[in-house]
Amino acid sequence: MRLGINIDHIATLRQARRDVHPDLLAAAGECVRAGADGLTVHLREDRRHIQDEDVVLLRSTFPKTHLNLEMAAVDSIAAIACRLKPNAVCIVPEKRAELTTEGGLDVKKQLKKITVISRKIRQAGIKVSLFIDPAPVQIKAAQTAGADMVELHTGTYAEYSDPQRPKYNPRQAQKELEKLFRAADAAQKLGLQVNAGHGLTYANVKPIARQQDLFTELNIGHNIIARAVFVGLTQAVREMKLAIG
Ligand code: PXP
Repeated sequence: MRLGINIDHIATLRQARRDVHPDLLAAAGECVRAGADGLTVHLREDRRHIQDEDVVLLRSTFPKTHLNLEMAAVDSIAAIACRLKPNAVCIVPEKRAELTTEGGLDVKKQLKKITVISRKIRQAGIKVSLFIDPAPVQIKAAQTAGADMVELHTGTYAEYSDPQRPKYNPRQAQKELEKLFRAADAAQKLGLQVNAGHGLTYANVKPIARQQDLFTELNIGHNIIARAVFVGLTQAVREMKLAIG
């Protein structure tokens, strides 16, 4: 199963200071060297983390690395996607006030709009994925819209399945997991590639990662960057002590 690393969270840290640190390209390089199969970035309309220039530089610096661009179904970002040619575009719902993507795309409700924008992106030679909840009606709509792939939203499963999270509930987690598996199976039967992501952690990824026949790619970001703080903090403090002398 492929791992796509969502590096928006590195850009969030950088944009908190409107600084150049941490260097997004250097971070992307570390991810690739460590074994990431792809890089995922969300070019939001409000540009709160990833900037247009980041996408340009990621594409040119890592031409052989699978680049997945998440975006809202809006023409202005679709035009950027068609110009920059990531390997894949994942269309996500986007609300200005949200902290992160909340819920999946309602493809059924916006079928016409999503069909038109998907066609435009596919005509530019880019694969189209739709980020949806694991609901049969959305899977069918994704196929009707002409998507190549779906990314199943694992957020609800993620909330219930991580023992450190407040909503931890193994029974509910199991139910959500089964819903994800049924949805993945149904999507596959309709000829769609199935990816998954959102909220996955070291503690809850295994049951999904075991389903190699159902899922092709997992997109994970926040928990990897959160872990990197602990894996790297000791070294970072030591280096600053040395720099001070
Ligand atoms: N997939 C999609 C479509 C997302 O919007 C996000 C979050 O930006 C992710 C995967 C990764 O989620 P997380 O950062 O919680 O691992």
